[in-house]
Amino acid sequence: MASQDQYLSFSSSGFGKWLTGTLGLPQPIPLVRYRPGKPELRGPVVVGAAPGSKIEDFLASALRAMGAVTLYHPDSADWRLAAGRHEVMTGRFVPEDSGRTGALLFDATAIADTEGLKALYAFFHDTIRSLATNGRIVVIGTAPEDADSIEAAAIQRGLEGFTRSLGKEVRRAVAVQLVWLKPGGEASLDSTLRFFLSGRSAYVSGQTVRVGVPVTGVVDRPDPARSQAGRTVLITGASRGIGLSIAETFARDGAQVVLLDIPPAASELAKHAERLGGAALALDITSPDAQDAIAADAAGRGGYDVVVHNAGITRDKTIAKMSASQWDSVLDVNFAAPLHITEKLLVAKAIRPNGRVVFVSSLSGIAGNLGQSNYALSKAALIGAVGKLAPLAATEGVTVNAVAPGFIETQMTAAIPFAIREAGRRMNSMSQGGLPVDVAETIAWFAHPGSGGINGAVVRVCGQSLLGA
Ligand SMILES: NC(=O)c1ccc[n+]([C@@H]2O[C@H](COP(=O)([O-])OP(=O)(O)OC[C@H]3O[C@@H](n4cnc5c(N)ncnc54)[C@H](O)[C@@H]3O)[C@@H](O)[C@H]2O)c1
Repeated sequence: MASQDQYLSFSSSGFGKWLTGTLGLPQPIPLVRYRPGKPELRGPVVVGAAPGSKIEDFLASALRAMGAVTLYHPDSADWRLAAGRHEVMTGRFVPEDSGRTGALLFDATAIADTEGLKALYAFFHDTIRSLATNGRIVVIGTAPEDADSIEAAAIQRGLEGFTRSLGKEVRRAVAVQLVWLKPGGEASLDSTLRFFLSGRSAYVSGQTVRVGVPVTGVVDRPDPARSQAGRTVLITGASRGIGLSIAETFARDGAQVVLLDIPPAASELAKHAERLGGAALALDITSPDAQDAIAADAAGRGGYDVVVHNAGITRDKTIAKMSASQWDSVLDVNFAAPLHITEKLLVAKAIRPNGRVVFVSSLSGIAGNLGQSNYALSKAALIGAVGKLAPLAATEGVTVNAVAPGFIETQMTAAIPFAIREAGRRMNSMSQGGLPVDVAETIAWFAHPGSGGINGAVVRVCGQSLLGA
């Protein structure tokens, strides 16, 4: 879908750039998104590591799989050796590379005291100016709960403040993330690095995610362009907007897609399902027979590999003016139905091992929003469901995660009054709204066969929005 953001188009033109610069107005930079067949990286990756790390070989292997050209920071001799072992092309970083590197990757896993943080400072102090627009920054740390000392745990937690600040400081469409590695998570770093270092994560910034032991113990490294090949994916609310983009993204990556939406959308649904070589399921998820109908569909297909709960509605009113039916319908569609369908599918073992459940929550569920007490409650409740379901589903080899989109350009947001819409678009580090595909790519990363080490996560797709920050 083309962006409806006319200010972005205007301010990216020659005259618009001059005018907005002169007036001191926001100057959003068009985001470069993943395109099959195009290079995933914007340029060489500068790699640095604090002394004592034990993950260089995993990083080198993951970067090699991405076809990365790497440069090493002078303080990171260990990395140079690992790169040599894995035949990752490497050269020494020089400051004259200004504006030309594609990503900065720093391994902070071994930092345990403030003395160790000096390596973090030196790396970013020296390299940050070298990043091209739309570049990427990834810091890998140790999950604080797994650190060996109070100081180490505190410092690892501190990395969150550091990366979030870089996101706000660098801007220029650069996305910055922190990956907290848990013991045994090294082997499943691949899909996460590929997501965070590429244009797939264009509108995801300021996020922290834990990567642990995969729930199935299996780590696949499939063909990156067909990572969902052989997998069957159910997407609810798939006749338009974000849901349709999720279906298109999974079909692009080789999945068999099952598109579900309400009966009035049946003809649109059938049209899109046919175009994507998938199937259509015209069904209201709140109808009394919905759970059985979905379980029967899953059984008929030998189970689903991925279930994406995207269907959602808003019925905005302040609490005093809200009718009981507005309250009920939002909770039923957005929360109760997705939860009960998930429980039914898990009990029926209708989600195959190495399967995924992904809920579409919302920034409203994190920050709250005027007139959305029903909606924010339902979306926050999905985050609560993730916390409780994730460890239970793991025993079946299934992960449960959520995305929380911020301002995404859809029919839902086109209906927002102009001034509020403009504020929603600009109040983030990217100074623009996201596209449905940004949410879809994030869900596809959770659903990647190699992402079994990410369970119980909530990742915001909001361009590092100031709301709920
Ligand atoms: N657009 C945004 O900025 C934004 C931000 C945060 C979260 N979200 C969430 O993303 C999801 C998709 O949003 P969108 O903007 O594409 O909305 P949309 O209204 O364009 O699409 C929602 C789809 O869900 C379907 N649906 C509604 N009730 C259903 C039911 N009972 N059974 C089956 N299908 C049903 C609708 O028919 C529609 O096709 C929603 O859960 C929404 O809350 C959107």
